[in-house]
Amino acid sequence: MKTPLLLFFFLHLLGPSGAVYKQWIPNTNFENASNWDQGRVPCTNDVVVFGSSEVVSVFVQSPHSLTDMYLPLNGEFIMAPGAGFAAFDGNYEPGCETASEIKFASSGSYQWYDPTLWHAAVSLEDLERGKYMFSVDEEHVPCQYDDVLFQPETSFRVNIESSEQMIRLRSISLMGQKFTDDDTLAEYLQSRSAKLQFHGQGALGLSNARCPDKSGCECGNAADHHRICAALLENSEDQCPVPTCKNPLKPVGHCCEICGAIISLEYSTGFDIEQYRNRILHTFLSLPRNAGVQMAISKVHGPHTFLGLLARSSASLIQIVLMDNRTGSQSGSHAEQLAEGIMNDIAKYGESFGILRSSLQTATGNNWSAQGVERHIGASTAGMVIGLFLILLLSGTVLLLYRKGILRSFPCVHLLSRWKRMNDLDSLGEAMDKGFDNPMFDTPSSLAALDSACSREETLKEMGSKNTQVYYINPLYDETELRA
Ligand SMILES: *[C@@H]1O[C@H](CO)[C@@H](O)[C@H](O)[C@H]1NC(C)=O
Repeated sequence: MKTPLLLFFFLHLLGPSGAVYKQWIPNTNFENASNWDQGRVPCTNDVVVFGSSEVVSVFVQSPHSLTDMYLPLNGEFIMAPGAGFAAFDGNYEPGCETASEIKFASSGSYQWYDPTLWHAAVSLEDLERGKYMFSVDEEHVPCQYDDVLFQPETSFRVNIESSEQMIRLRSISLMGQKFTDDDTLAEYLQSRSAKLQFHGQGALGLSNARCPDKSGCECGNAADHHRICAALLENSEDQCPVPTCKNPLKPVGHCCEICGAIISLEYSTGFDIEQYRNRILHTFLSLPRNAGVQMAISKVHGPHTFLGLLARSSASLIQIVLMDNRTGSQSGSHAEQLAEGIMNDIAKYGESFGILRSSLQTATGNNWSAQGVERHIGASTAGMVIGLFLILLLSGTVLLLYRKGILRSFPCVHLLSRWKRMNDLDSLGEAMDKGFDNPMFDTPSSLAALDSACSREETLKEMGSKNTQVYYINPLYDETELRA
């Protein structure tokens, strides 16, 4: 088991996980044609109208000569050098012969939590080149360790109403100035411009820190899930598009159901999310034949299920969402294929990446049914020994109780088949540190544990027979195990 140690040093050289940049898309610039009711920028013969009650901040890039202009009561123009307004001087511009009224129609109701209003990328370079990240909806708005950018030379207005006391970020760039601490930001937020740019019940807090955990950090937007989805579905009457597969999947943090695949990973201390993301990108997604597949990988606060296994102290898991561009009966099939490739890769090399266990769910237009697969990564030899020891201990207890008459019959005949799963559990490591409680002197809790273990086993069997295929790999015959 030299690999984890080497990996450990390697990972520490790399440091904590990487950056994500989120850039606000809309602007309220004067020269942006889509901000005017006629879909064009005002010209000389126009009468420009700002609604008197509108609250606006408008960036003006260049000089304009206009016939007349009605101004709002509360607002500002931010003038670039050389920009300005002049009265119409009698020289008609070509294409601007007819006098007309043109209204500023930029929506003042943009929400911070609208995932359609942000571009996300892993570097500033990618942002510029339009190489955006795919992510679940909750993570498409800024997460707690993200750098947020409002493009310089643009004006904007955004409602920062939030369910959290504070919208937490790593940094924020406004009008070309980058803010990394709360004091400087607070000063800026006192300015007149800022009061027009940000409104609504909410506050911004800056940490200037990256995610400190190399296995990744949760985005932190779960409390605003409803707000994010309401904004996303605003123009479709709160209706998600109907997926073209039966039993579509619902990724954690996503608003609508999808066709494709979800891989869930349980991880150990050696896991590095950036390193593993790169592994998938280089081994699978960068291949030309996989161009149509999109992947999102992140740490999420998952449901406790893991196909009915023992609940763990922490329910953080790594979620990999794969979607493709195929349609109809083919929808999701490419993502499924790729996901199976990743599962095979995990079976072979998962352990060296710190992956303890993986499960796959797929939904495609092809078979019209959701499927589940679960694999265990080979446990260390020590783990196996502990597992065996625990089983002996447990079966010993059962026998003893049986003899004493406390237990009339074995509560569950599948007891022995559970040992593999037990030795995988992290909690076992904790138990080791504290030493084992002697189950013989701890009858009630041991009984309860056995009981719940078996009822879960039953649920698992039921699930398996319904619509889920569950595979267990016996580590004793698992070739990857033998090599380890
Ligand atoms: C114009 O404004 C719209 C909406 O605010 C925005 O989506 C678009 O990117 C802007 N275009 C330019 C060129 O800035």
